[in-house]
Amino acid sequence: MGTNPNEEINTEEMSYKKHIQPLFNANCVNCHGDNGNLSLTTYNNLMKGGNSGKSIIANNSTGSLLINRLSGEGPGQRMPPEPASQLDDTKIELVKKWIDQGALNN
Ligand code: HEC
Repeated sequence: MGTNPNEEINTEEMSYKKHIQPLFNANCVNCHGDNGNLSLTTYNNLMKGGNSGKSIIANNSTGSLLINRLSGEGPGQRMPPEPASQLDDTKIELVKKWIDQGALNN
């Protein structure tokens, strides 16, 4: 620890409040409000999941539906849907990192 500067970046602690909720507010809540399917308005609503069940599997970003939807890799529509443009990789990385750090309410 500490000798490689990249390590510092990789171990930077993600914050739901600081990094994740603002991203949802800007890109998702206009559709994912409290209207029955997946709500992205708060941590607790996110963790409840949507019609397909859980969107987040803590410590397993590749297995998390939300990441599959963001990257367009899984079955189902890419999020946010066209004509909105896909989130850039840096933003998707933030969400992945947050999930792989335990998907904490921090
Ligand atoms: C233009 C409206 C719109 C926007 C913006 C949008 N979504 Fe969606 N999303 C939908 C609709 C409609 C569905 C349900 C249909 C489906 O599953 O494809 C959905 C489904 C999902 C699902 C699957 C939920 C489930 O349990 O089936 C996830 C995960 C998701 N969205 C994540 C996101 C994220 C994260 C963002 C922001 C980056 C986002 N969406 C932005 C309309 C939107």
